[in-house]
Amino acid sequence: MTLTSKLQETIQFMKDQGVADVEFGLILGSGLGELAEEIEHPVVIPYDQIPHFPVSTVVGHAGQLVYGTLSGKKVLALQGRFHYYEGHSMQTVTYPVRVMKALEAHSVIVTNACGGVNTTFTPGDLMLITDQINFMGDNPLIGENEEDMGPRFPDMSEAYTLSYREIAKKIAEEKGLHLKEGVYMGFSGPTYETPAEIRFARTIGADAVGMSTVPEVIVAAHSGLKVLGISCITNLAAGMQKNLNHAEVVETTERVKVEFKSLVKETLAAL
Ligand code: HPA
Repeated sequence: MTLTSKLQETIQFMKDQGVADVEFGLILGSGLGELAEEIEHPVVIPYDQIPHFPVSTVVGHAGQLVYGTLSGKKVLALQGRFHYYEGHSMQTVTYPVRVMKALEAHSVIVTNACGGVNTTFTPGDLMLITDQINFMGDNPLIGENEEDMGPRFPDMSEAYTLSYREIAKKIAEEKGLHLKEGVYMGFSGPTYETPAEIRFARTIGADAVGMSTVPEVIVAAHSGLKVLGISCITNLAAGMQKNLNHAEVVETTERVKVEFKSLVKETLAAL
């Protein structure tokens, strides 16, 4: 079955549920899914009901799509994303981005929890993603290219839309929020990185590391979607603090979620 025909079945199902006129896709990372609760007139669809949709397994990820209005925009939010380390293929991880595009979204907002590599970062900081490094050892576009999905060799020069970054920065400034900026480097996980890997990451230009986002943004670029990326620095990366654990990641997102939600909502209103 081709990707195009799978997508047709998925979006037909979603349209039957009342999903129409999507403007923005919203991918909510670990601990950041609560934003979907603020969507007005929500249509909620658990992943396991959607044809061809995978099911997410990570604690802290709800595993449902929420469609409705947020900040006056029609959004389709992914409350819980799919990770490569769960054993999904890169194509599966990025299927929801294809669905967003097929439902005529023009943009996606990607969010994640990640480790800070830049020594000026502190846990709890929010970081505007300016660019990314694919260190996951795979790429969702490997294989035959379906020309109607996008070009064989997509340009990644401005994967994170510059005008969106400028708007987010302006909003943050108006709010008196110290929004950091930087390059996100994707590792496959599920191990956290070693201190040596983090020194390497810093040397090659990473400001933050995580286990998501990179594949989705590659597919967004392939599909011609505009992208805004916001990371929550939940911890300092390996070797920069005592030890790492998922509990701290969840604790930090819990602590900054009010700030995070208001930044995303106000930025969304201005996009
Ligand atoms: N490394 C990778 N992924 C992460 C981290 C980290 O330090 N923190 C949260 N997600």
